[in-house]
Amino acid sequence: MPAAQTNFAHHWMPFTNNRLFRETPQMFARAEGVHYVTPEGDTILDGSSGLFCTPAGHGRREIADAVHAQLMTLDYTPHFQRGAPISFTLAERLAEILPEGLDRVFFASSGSEAVDSAMKICLTYHRARGEGQRSRFVSRNWGYHGVNLGGTSLAGMVNNRREFSGVTCDVVHMRHTWTEEQRYTCGQPETGAELADDLEEICRTFGADTIAGVFVEPIAGSIGTIVPPKGYLERLRAIADKYGLLLIFDEVITGFGRTGSAFAGQEFSVTPDVMTMAKALTNGAVPMSAVATTAKIQDAIFAAAGEADRPELFHGYTYSAHPVACAAALATLDVYRDEKLFDRARDLSPRFLDLIFGLRNLPQVVDLRGYGMMAGIQLAPADKPGLKGSLVQRALFDAGLHVKATGDALIVAPAFVATDGELEQMTDILRRVLGRAELH
Ligand SMILES: Cc1ncc(COP(=O)(O)O)c(C=O)c1O
Repeated sequence: MPAAQTNFAHHWMPFTNNRLFRETPQMFARAEGVHYVTPEGDTILDGSSGLFCTPAGHGRREIADAVHAQLMTLDYTPHFQRGAPISFTLAERLAEILPEGLDRVFFASSGSEAVDSAMKICLTYHRARGEGQRSRFVSRNWGYHGVNLGGTSLAGMVNNRREFSGVTCDVVHMRHTWTEEQRYTCGQPETGAELADDLEEICRTFGADTIAGVFVEPIAGSIGTIVPPKGYLERLRAIADKYGLLLIFDEVITGFGRTGSAFAGQEFSVTPDVMTMAKALTNGAVPMSAVATTAKIQDAIFAAAGEADRPELFHGYTYSAHPVACAAALATLDVYRDEKLFDRARDLSPRFLDLIFGLRNLPQVVDLRGYGMMAGIQLAPADKPGLKGSLVQRALFDAGLHVKATGDALIVAPAFVATDGELEQMTDILRRVLGRAELH
């Protein structure tokens, strides 16, 4: 149905200026490979894998067929006190590619649910060990950890917290890791590792024995691809160990090959205690997320529950380990393996980042950042923060390119199946639109 015939009155869209959207709707009707098609039939290149969801490209028949077959076999089963073999198979498959030791998997449906589930696992672990006073978390400014109340508390993005501050949990924020010196750094910045010492400072100020864990995105994605300085994640790991804190990596964006490794923890050789994943777990086809943790954490929780003869975790969702999502995830993992897509991401990355850093001299570009198959393009702000990002994002769509924008940063994260030519087309459109005088 063309956009002109759509009744916009009833669907309240998330994270959207609904008033503006209704005036000039930008919609997709179909997708295939790295292209969307609008209801009017225009083709739009997908520069952000939707929302970092589709590294294998859109419209994968292998995934669609697996979903259809699963719907006709076992469309739904509750996972409270019941089970289905497929979720155990999926957890076992994931364990093969997860960072060493993180082989216990809890399922949910969204990144936000994975984050809140991870928080509860951390709290339950400390309580099981008789350290229930560890109830506070540490996270980082500019971090994004979804929108449930736990994730909202962890969030370091001001707009996502302001309205909800009355109901958030106890979280202390470290500084973000971007510094002026890092401007236009491709890959990991050389400077800034000492920013991890904020964690030690917080441990001293608040008492390490009140802190359950520290949450970070290994690469801060949603804010616009902020790559960790060399040595920063290692230092966080060491401080967390010193003070008995759990280290949680939120890999909702960085997971499944975005950095060239299966997970960013492996890429940066730092293994967390708990890890979240979502989005590319099913190539975006069916909502699904997961939390991976260690046998040590699971064993402690199971042992405490065993003594009391009760369920280990008073937490879970109607759609935890939904069989259709499991089928989509298994088919997705097959595609990643058979097409060696994580290797392809690593091979494609230098060319991709080269093209992005070729935008350096455009008048409104004030910083470029990138790692693997994700990059951030920081634009000079207009009078109001975020206005430029929003104007440029809309203009890019009209010129045939979809990218995610946060504030005045554009986030480019193409599918790993993109060709060299398609990556060039993306940057050509970026160059053309960013060069337009009326957007300056
Ligand atoms: C790092 C991170 N955590 C959590 C989330 C929330 O995921 P969802 O939107 O699926 O709830 C996101 C979403 O972009 C994310 O980037």
